Amino acid sequence: MALPYNERTHDCGALRAANVGQSVLLAGWVDNFRDLGGMVFIDLRDRGGITQLRFDPTTDPKAHEVARGLRSEYVICVRGEVVHRGDKVNANLPTGEIEVKVHEIDLLSKSKTPPFQIADDIETNEDLRLETRYLDIRRTPMRRALMLRHRITKTIRDYFDRNGFLDIETPILTKSTPEGARDYLVPSRLQHGSFYALPQSPQLFKQLLMIAGLDKYMQIARCFRDEDLRADRQPEFTQVDVEMAFIQPENIMQHIERCLSEVADAARGIDVKLPLPRISYADAMEKYGRDAPDLRYEMTIKDVTAAAKMTDFKVFREPVDAGGVARCIVVPGGAEMTRKETDGLTEEIKGIGAGGLPLVKVAEEGGKVVFQTGIAKFLENEAVKAELLRATGAKPGDLILFAAGTEANVCKHLGWLRSTVAERRGMIPKDTWSFCWVVDFPMFGYDEETKAVFPMHHPFTSPKDEDVHLMQLGSDTIPPKEDLLKIRAKAYDVVLNGIELGGGSIRIHRSDVQSKVFRILGLTEEDARKKFQFLLEALQYGAPPHGGIALGLDRMVMLFGGFSSIRDVIAFPKNARAACPLTEAPSEVTNEQLKELGLDRLHEG
Ligand code: AMO
Repeated sequence: MALPYNERTHDCGALRAANVGQSVLLAGWVDNFRDLGGMVFIDLRDRGGITQLRFDPTTDPKAHEVARGLRSEYVICVRGEVVHRGDKVNANLPTGEIEVKVHEIDLLSKSKTPPFQIADDIETNEDLRLETRYLDIRRTPMRRALMLRHRITKTIRDYFDRNGFLDIETPILTKSTPEGARDYLVPSRLQHGSFYALPQSPQLFKQLLMIAGLDKYMQIARCFRDEDLRADRQPEFTQVDVEMAFIQPENIMQHIERCLSEVADAARGIDVKLPLPRISYADAMEKYGRDAPDLRYEMTIKDVTAAAKMTDFKVFREPVDAGGVARCIVVPGGAEMTRKETDGLTEEIKGIGAGGLPLVKVAEEGGKVVFQTGIAKFLENEAVKAELLRATGAKPGDLILFAAGTEANVCKHLGWLRSTVAERRGMIPKDTWSFCWVVDFPMFGYDEETKAVFPMHHPFTSPKDEDVHLMQLGSDTIPPKEDLLKIRAKAYDVVLNGIELGGGSIRIHRSDVQSKVFRILGLTEEDARKKFQFLLEALQYGAPPHGGIALGLDRMVMLFGGFSSIRDVIAFPKNARAACPLTEAPSEVTNEQLKELGLDRLHEG
């Protein structure tokens, strides 16, 4: 009689010394097979873990015979007795004190030889792993990632449920939502030439739900953005999307902090101190060169514009005379860095647009602090040196890396240097969790290429009350760029270890303010109506003050799971070419399908 695999008594990670003597029924995959002459040992794996099975030819010859024919990834069901391993205990395995002495076995399914080893550490090209993702997920780190993802999602849902938020689904076939990326389009069969857009976020719908009076909304929402991919970006990803009415930024921030601290505890037992520190956008850029600062280590950016103004050194002098800045980072003990290392940094920083990498090493000679190598000969003047040492606090043994130019470029280059040098020199402490809020974002940014302002968050974000006057509401005039760039928004980002986890804002709830923002952004009234008439209309029917945030769920799981890519925490991710090697999506479609959609002419062309 076949073993009743539907009546498994335990999973493969459950048995302990306390179970010794019990009869158990287990099922799973053959992880490891060892035929030691007489005895056969098998590691049996399921999602719970691994249990060692022992097949003894003297007591259970039939089961032993079947076991000898097993291979990796065969699926079996066994019945046997839990026995203690005696002095052969495996301390690395939770079930390592016991093994199951098998009396009966059924072979349920055979397996081809997998294209890669089902082991924790493998050096396999990622596309091959993704092609047979179901095998990749059998590996413990991948399985754990998805289990962690479940635990995190559950913690989040529980938090919001407990706090009175309603989980509401919003459409996937919809109209373009402006989050700054390209849309994925879906052609309409019934209206040829018309397209749905997949949502870049549920932004507009969650605002409509506030206008509808639902007050507290949350959704674990799939979003779609056709943008260039990176380790922390996928074309489809998941947001923890939240919106509330009758609130100030504090209310959203408090909920998100509490939720994150519960997640951190559930995921890794981390005790997050609340409230989280807050830093203004301006300070983050000045001290860390980034709007997502990594606070796990110091090495903050120092301003040396005053010293630069005192030199004749062209590389410093010209940009500061033109209204730019000179700043630097001081690498503690960095004087020991080799020429090869600093030349490497110079080449790399040129790759992101810097002209070069001015640097000096700080040393001591005859009781005096001196600068050596690099641009030392331009900084010999005692007053300049004294000012530099004062502004930077550099000590003998340190390395100073400079950047001079426009504020935006200097931030970009020093922000990159700070994180790159910290990483390479092992300055980032392990198992440290540094959360912060970045607040007071500018409302608009300025694109030098298109010579146009763009919304830093999205066009529905409210300006700060004290800066609203700069928008010249009630007049048709578009304020000058200088004024627009001074307007700060009621926007906030939450950052963990230098990675933006989420961003949100208080929204505009007045249609006149919303219309003015559209005009500032260069949208004609007609454009705005075409794209967002439904929102502008809704804002005229009693819109409550409201605001919200969205957190990147994939990034959260990646960080708490210690992974370096969000692909590792998504069951079936896309590769760097936005393709799925498993299903081979995107793929060609038939002429018949195209005809139905009215796209057949495109195909011919
Ligand atoms: P935003 O565009 O800042 O805001 O997105 C919120 C968070 O979503 C995550 N994220 C991504 N994760 C993976 N792959 C991507 N391509 C990707 N793009 C974004 C990030 C980011 O912080 N509607 C607003 C939110 C709001 O205002 O309420 C929005 O979508 O972690």
